[in-house]
Amino acid sequence: AADMGEDLAQVLITEKEIGQRLDEMAAQIDADYEGKDILLVGVLKGAVYVMADLSRRLHRSAPMDWMAVSSYGSGTKSSGVVRILKDLDADLTDRHVLIVEDIIDSGLTLSWLVGNLSSRGAASVEIATLLRKPEAAKVEVDVKYVGFDIPTEFVVGYGLDYAERYRNLPFIGTLRPEVYGG
Ligand code: PRP
Ligand code: MN
Ligand code: MG
Repeated sequence: AADMGEDLAQVLITEKEIGQRLDEMAAQIDADYEGKDILLVGVLKGAVYVMADLSRRLHRSAPMDWMAVSSYGSGTKSSGVVRILKDLDADLTDRHVLIVEDIIDSGLTLSWLVGNLSSRGAASVEIATLLRKPEAAKVEVDVKYVGFDIPTEFVVGYGLDYAERYRNLPFIGTLRPEVYGG
């Protein structure tokens, strides 16, 4: 439907709840990295809203850079083979890297990314994600900052898409089954 609201089944996490959680995460990050400079690395495209709203809550200047990745070819991403579509501009040597993500689902993307960025000589590589689906994990990823653990259910909004749509919903929600039905 032209009005996104008509396609929604349920709001899982409200805009206010997201903001409150990001306040807490930013305070924790500021405390943990006291006296250290960090480089925020966002994963396009899902992470754009988390990056914007988390970085603005930090009480420090935190440079940001972006990567775009995709599973190899056009198939499923369950292989864990990842291809870089857009690489970082920044040199990671001796930098404290904080990867910013919208969601960890199978964990395959992040698992690969942590390995890739760590191999570039970073002083540290940690992860901040708004959402995590613990029951969908195919690989263990050590995540330092998690906003919300959610059930294994398809969610959209706040950066998360279904076929590139619904990213700009200001909250996290689920879609009515008819939307997938075509
Ligand atoms: C989604 C999401 C994460 C990744 C998580 O990105 O934004 O980056 O999948 O999945 P995983 O834990 O199973 O690897 P997607 O590939 O859909 O690209 P997008 O961010 O452009 O939507
Ligand atoms: Mn993504
Ligand atoms: Mg996506």
